[in-house]
Amino acid sequence: MGEIVEPYRIKVVEPIPVTTRAQREQALRRVHHNLFGLRADEVTIDLLTDSGTGALSAAQWAAGMAGDAYAGSRSFYHFRGVVRDLTSYPCVLPVHQGRAAERILFSALLTPGRITLSNTHFDTTRANIELTGCQAVDLPCPQARDLDSDEPFKGNIDLHRLEDALRGPDASRIALVILTLTNNGEAGQPVSMDNLARAAAPCREHAVPLFLDAARFAENAWLVTQHEAAYRDMSPRQVAEQAFRLADGCLMSAKKDGIVHIGGFLGLRDRSLAERCELLLIATEGFPTYGGLAGRDMDMDAHGLTEVTEPDYLRARADAARHLAGLAREAGIAIVEPPGLHALYLNAGRLLPHIPAHRFPGHALACRLYLEGGIRSVELGSLYLGSEDENGAPVTAAPYELVRLALPRRTYGLGHLNHVGEILAATVKDKERIPGYRLVERPPLLRHFRCKLEPIPH
Ligand SMILES: Cc1ncc(COP(=O)(O)O)c(C=O)c1O
Repeated sequence: MGEIVEPYRIKVVEPIPVTTRAQREQALRRVHHNLFGLRADEVTIDLLTDSGTGALSAAQWAAGMAGDAYAGSRSFYHFRGVVRDLTSYPCVLPVHQGRAAERILFSALLTPGRITLSNTHFDTTRANIELTGCQAVDLPCPQARDLDSDEPFKGNIDLHRLEDALRGPDASRIALVILTLTNNGEAGQPVSMDNLARAAAPCREHAVPLFLDAARFAENAWLVTQHEAAYRDMSPRQVAEQAFRLADGCLMSAKKDGIVHIGGFLGLRDRSLAERCELLLIATEGFPTYGGLAGRDMDMDAHGLTEVTEPDYLRARADAARHLAGLAREAGIAIVEPPGLHALYLNAGRLLPHIPAHRFPGHALACRLYLEGGIRSVELGSLYLGSEDENGAPVTAAPYELVRLALPRRTYGLGHLNHVGEILAATVKDKERIPGYRLVERPPLLRHFRCKLEPIPH
């Protein structure tokens, strides 16, 4: 068998747009060099996100046909049964996507002035915590700072800082600990079971609830079976079950490891907390047996949650990411090591040293990948995290200038990845001529989505 054998064959196809360089140049000008503004039919390989972009299986589509909706829906009971088996949480509240679960949980649990701790809060998680008047504090492990190290669990929480915080002067303000699996804010690096168990113990001791942000629980479980000796003989499903059992509940964006286009849930052990959440669910999402979803979404999600831990599926996904990582390294582009499963992170800061942080090397690389080969990616650097003064002079820069190539589930094959590799190689050949960018219009909030930019000619 070859290097990457996807454990499925193709039943439905969608043509992908093929454009000329002149068309892409024109499109970039039209969207003011902001790739979020591109229309999907201007993008050949869309690596913007792995969220809600995966391909459903035949079994998921078939399950969707049986979906029903609203009070007491069959789909809900099917969905709840699957989630309970996987997680062990008795209370399961369906929601339309992960951030709805965040808003509901934090509104029910947090009061202004409290603190939440995490290996790294995902950005909507942080935003929903801050909206309740609380402070979200990240405690990534020190190894996360070394982008080149191939330590397998750089997504871990720093256990010393966690214990210090739980015993420290602000301990009474700590309302919640959240472990993000895998750690999307730290380049998708996984969390070991040892770290999870050793974080759970002091949380229990200090009666602070521990929640999992489980968006990529199956990918985390796969990496545990590959790199954590005590779990080598377990299946990813068994590891995932153990992980959920170490926590008091979870927030789930099913658009990732539920392999659905829309959906999510909140899983809880605490029934009185679940009752408070249910009231908010009814007021803002929908009745507790559909939570803003169609019945078919819950049925498809129930199937996706089962398919996603299949070892052959996860192995092929890991192989694909590793293959792309090899192509990037061959092209001379450093990546955040080791590659995970859901995305590859290119070190644009190192590739383009002639572009300073406030001229956005990550954004410059992302624009060039689009121009060269119609590939859409996303900058995770100073355009996303930095700030400048009125005149464009730098005030704060991101710690790293990265570009994320996200890998939608079961969507792109080896040929597509090889095309991305060719474009990476072509881009590197000409890298000194890649221009930096200046902002010409910046919205006050979440500027990277809607800002306008222009290249600065050499
Ligand atoms: C780790 C993590 N948590 C939460 C979310 C939010 O989920 P959603 O996009 O479904 O609202 C995301 C989305 O990317 C995520 O990656």
